[in-house]
Amino acid sequence: MTNPGLEGVVVADTQISEVDGERGRLVIAGADVEQLAGAATFEATARRVLAAGGADPVVATPIDNAAFGAARAAAWELLPRLGDALDHADAMDALRTGLAHLRPGPTDAGGDLAAAMSAIGAAPVVVAAWSRRRAGQAPVAPDPALGHAADYLRMTLGRPGDAASVRALDAYLVTVIDHAMCASTFTARVIASTASDLISALVGAVGALKGPLHGGAPGPVLDMLDAIGAPDRAEAWLLGELAAGRRIMGMGHRVYRVRDPRAAVLEEAVRPLASPRLELARAVERAAAKILHERKPDRPLAANVEFYTAVLLDAVGLPREQFSATFAVSRVAGWAAHVLEQRRTGRLIRPASRYIGAMP
Ligand code: COA
Repeated sequence: MTNPGLEGVVVADTQISEVDGERGRLVIAGADVEQLAGAATFEATARRVLAAGGADPVVATPIDNAAFGAARAAAWELLPRLGDALDHADAMDALRTGLAHLRPGPTDAGGDLAAAMSAIGAAPVVVAAWSRRRAGQAPVAPDPALGHAADYLRMTLGRPGDAASVRALDAYLVTVIDHAMCASTFTARVIASTASDLISALVGAVGALKGPLHGGAPGPVLDMLDAIGAPDRAEAWLLGELAAGRRIMGMGHRVYRVRDPRAAVLEEAVRPLASPRLELARAVERAAAKILHERKPDRPLAANVEFYTAVLLDAVGLPREQFSATFAVSRVAGWAAHVLEQRRTGRLIRPASRYIGAMP
């Protein structure tokens, strides 16, 4: 079997992405992730996954870059009606509440795609506004003429990001746009499979992504790098974590048995930013891989996507509290693509449980 993590359960056929856990390969709708990151924009990659999910035949007018800008502008209009959504302490809760305000529309192909675009536009606007509010600053209106990555960074920082940071953030958004049947995508597909609406599917997916075993790790990875501070302290610190029964954040994966290919892509994408944390991160990764190998020689545990996500998002200037929600800013496109595909080709997902309780 290609993916040991699948444990024999295949719940969908998909054209959106494929993870080869043995070889460490991620294919996104026909292209290797290494081909796309740094070469394609988030918008182009979102179109790619939405088309793979089945958006193409229903799109009367193509989803051009202006459609992404228009979706962000529409979300800006929504902000004053979000109640206290932006007061949540956790950005993922703010995003979940913000997305829940979107109108689902009809559950046909046109309605789903319209809802998908509204969510893709809303995610960066809500997350950036949450971040600014947390810092005691007024939200910044989107500029529909900018690219998605550039505008998200600008709305967060309150000034345009430099070109290298925008490129790195765009590469990040492309890299994490989809990853086969991960927990949050499965959640979205289960909800869609009941013929519920796309927005409900995305809200559920945000809840699944929030957990530190899935998308919640990059903030803690940065905390770890801060706590370690210098390469020669890595080993002792990591051993202390394991002795305390804690896991090393950013290491290990359910499907990959080699280093997550996205770790290499993001490590490369962050290089032009000359982050002071990059060298430390590399040293910590080496130490963690060595220690985990000694502890678990039979279970390869290598860096996953979150390890260099932390370094990259920090280097472009995003606060760590915003990292998981930034993952969602991208993944919302992948989730939406899966909802479209589930509608076209799937049926009710209804797994089984094994009863081990007492009989009457
Ligand atoms: N640090 C220390 N030990 C780890 C570990 C880590 N990051 N990841 C796995 N292990 C250990 C487990 O404790 C387990 O040991 P045990 O058999 O003695 O209990 C063994 O390796 C197998 O782990 P398992 O729980 O079967 O792996 P999984 O497939 O359920 O877990 C993750 C996958 C991603 C949840 C897990 O590797 C993890 O928690 N990583 C840290 C969080 C993280 O980076 N999440 C982002 C994922 S993209």
